[in-house]
Amino acid sequence: MEAALAHEYRRICHDPATHQPLAYLRLRQAIRNIIGHRDIEPGQALPSERDLSQTLKLSRVTVRKAIAGLVEEGLLTQRHGAGTFIAERIVKPMSRLTSFTEDLRERGLSPRSEFFERGIGEVTPEESMALNLSPGSLVVRLHRVRYGQDEPLAIERSVVPASVLPDPHLVRDSLYEALEKLNARPRRALQRLRAVSLNAQQARLLHVSVGSAGLNIERRSFLDDGRVVEFTCSWYRGDIYDFVAELQTD
Ligand code: GLP
Repeated sequence: MEAALAHEYRRICHDPATHQPLAYLRLRQAIRNIIGHRDIEPGQALPSERDLSQTLKLSRVTVRKAIAGLVEEGLLTQRHGAGTFIAERIVKPMSRLTSFTEDLRERGLSPRSEFFERGIGEVTPEESMALNLSPGSLVVRLHRVRYGQDEPLAIERSVVPASVLPDPHLVRDSLYEALEKLNARPRRALQRLRAVSLNAQQARLLHVSVGSAGLNIERRSFLDDGRVVEFTCSWYRGDIYDFVAELQTD
């Protein structure tokens, strides 16, 4: 793995397309890439700071800075006295507005969706409140189980105004990719998290036992002009996901 990392780091250094003058950012990208290519598996240890700095001929400050950023992003975890490891649980920083697909790809997992519903219909009173739509407006509804490497990770119900997403079949695997193509990728979101125990149907879909811990997440996302672009209710498996937030004093 050390060899794969050294190879990837040198490749990035010599890649004219990268144009990254800062060594710690090049190293960060190289580590991200080897995780993405699965040259290193979740739970495996990263070589020590000292070994990395020797192999790559970088200062320890540079190596430390590269690693610190990836710990913050949730790709790496540090155990005091034991070293740095590739995160096993999916650690999701709450401050970044990313999609399920992006979160998984970043970790070298292939995302996949199974649709139960992918249709269009008239907005319900609850949806019209969440999306700020007038009665009678049309909405696209997506109900999916989200998988990573064939393991079910979450159930999601998304509602999107049809004025933004005219055809539900524009969504293949990723809602945000479809919205991006329509120039309607969300820019801001409000999210509410709640601990829940998964009911029989949810537990069956997520391959866990009834009553297991889950996280219910409601996300309302907005476009630059303030229009609500999605209202999504998700149930994530509590045994796999960690949501982390950076807090600052005022
Ligand atoms: C996360 C969010 C959802 C969002 C989804 C988009 O799972 N909780 O609110 O709709 O990402 O993911 P994708 O673009 O993969 O469909």
